[in-house]
Amino acid sequence: MKPIGLKEKNNITYINDFSINDLVKEYKTPLYIIDEKQLLKNINDYKDSFKSLMFKTNVVYASKALLTKELTHILSEKDLYMDAVSLGDLFVAKSSDFDMKKIVFHGNNKSLAELEYAVINDVGIIVVDNLYELKLLIDVTNRLEKKINIMLRVNPGIDVHTHVYVQTSKLSSKFGESIFDDEIIHTLISTLLTSKYINLIGFHAHIGSSVMEAEAYQLEIEKMVAFQNKINNEYHLSLKHLNIGGGFGITYTKKNKAMPIPKMISKVIGYLEAEISKTNSLISDVYIEPGRSIVGNAGVTIYSISQIKPTYGMKNYLFIDGGMTDNIRPALYEATYEVDVVNKLSENKEHLVDVVGKCCESGDIIRKDALIPSVTDQDLLIVYCTGAYNYSMFSNYNNMLKPALISVGDKVTLWSRREELSDLIRLFK
Ligand SMILES: Cc1ncc(COP(=O)(O)O)c(C=O)c1O
Repeated sequence: MKPIGLKEKNNITYINDFSINDLVKEYKTPLYIIDEKQLLKNINDYKDSFKSLMFKTNVVYASKALLTKELTHILSEKDLYMDAVSLGDLFVAKSSDFDMKKIVFHGNNKSLAELEYAVINDVGIIVVDNLYELKLLIDVTNRLEKKINIMLRVNPGIDVHTHVYVQTSKLSSKFGESIFDDEIIHTLISTLLTSKYINLIGFHAHIGSSVMEAEAYQLEIEKMVAFQNKINNEYHLSLKHLNIGGGFGITYTKKNKAMPIPKMISKVIGYLEAEISKTNSLISDVYIEPGRSIVGNAGVTIYSISQIKPTYGMKNYLFIDGGMTDNIRPALYEATYEVDVVNKLSENKEHLVDVVGKCCESGDIIRKDALIPSVTDQDLLIVYCTGAYNYSMFSNYNNMLKPALISVGDKVTLWSRREELSDLIRLFK
C-alpha cells in the first residue's frame, strides 16, 4: 500500500530521502509522485517471476495505467513490451523513441487512421477486436503492401469478482468475440486467411481489472489453451502465441490484500505449464499485460489541506486542493484509498472525515470515512496507491490544472510539468 521508499523520521515524511515538504515547495500541490524504487521492484518482480523453461515469456506493460516519456525509457531499458489503445498512445510511444516492434496495439474501435499509423510504423502486434476492423486492416495492408502480425481478441466468458465497469470478459462485454460463437470465429479466421499480409500468431483475452483470485486466471488459461488447440486442429494452423491480458489486483487498502506479484505470477506460470503440457499445445510464447500492478503502488498524490468543515452535526469534510479531476476512480468505480497526513503518520487519528475535493460535484470524494489526526492549513494529505489510472484519467473539469508528475529515486526527475493557466486556453481560437 505505502511505497517502499516512504519513511518518517523525526516527524518528517520522506520518499527515498527527499522530504515531501521540500518536493511540494518546488512542484506545488496537488502533486503526483512516483517512487522509482517501488516501480523498479514491481518491474523486476514481473521479469523474475514470469519465466518458464517451456515457453518464452513477454511482459507487456499496459500503458493506459500511466504513460509518459520517462516511463517508456525505463520500460525500454528493462526490455518490456508496451500496449497502446489509440493513435495518441502510438504517437507518444513513437515520440519517446519506444521500439514500435514492441508495441501491442489494442482497442475495440480502431479507426482507419489508427490502423494505417500502426502498419506504417511497424507496430509489433495488432490485437484485432472484430470483423469490421479486420476488413479495414486487410484493406490497409493490401494498399501499403506491408505485413503485420495480429492476434484475435476473444472473450472466454469469465465472470471475475471486480467492479462491473472493469469486467471485460462477461459474455456481454464489448471487447473481442466470444470463443463460443463458432460462426463469427469461423468468419474471422477464414477472412484473415485470404490475406497475403496478415499473419495470425495467436489469441488474446483480458478477463478484467483488479482481479484478486489466481483461480480466475486458471480458468482463463484452461479455456484459452483449449480454444487455441481447437482452432489449430480445425484450420490446420500452428498458432504459437497466447496473450492472457493483465488485471492483476493490488492492495489499495488493508481490508483487501492482493497476492504479491511473485506469488500470483508463479501460480499463473504453473497453470500455463500444466495446461500446455497436458494438452500437447503448440504454444511457445506467452504474454501478460500488467498495468496497475506495475505503477499503482509506486504512486502517491500530495494535496494541501485547508480545513475540516463540519456540517450541522452530520459529516466532517476535509477539504483538499484537488479532487475528482486528478483521481476519478472513487467517483467512477467506488474505489477506496488509504490516506495519511504528511509528517503525522504516527499521530493519534481521532477525527472521522470524508476527504473531498474542490469540484462542483457532490461525488467529488477521494476517501469516505477516513480517520486522521488534528490538522491545520499548513498540513499536507498523502493518498497512497495513486500511480495507476490517476494521471492518465485526469480531466480539466472546472478548469483545474493538471498537477506535476515527478519520480523520486536517488534523484528527483520531472516527468510532466504542472499545467499553467495559459494551458487552459491554448486550444481556443
Ligand atoms: C487489454 C488490456 N490489457 C491489460 C490491461 C491492464 O489491466 P491492469 O491495469 O488492471 O493490469 C487492460 C485494462 O483495462 C486491458 O484492457
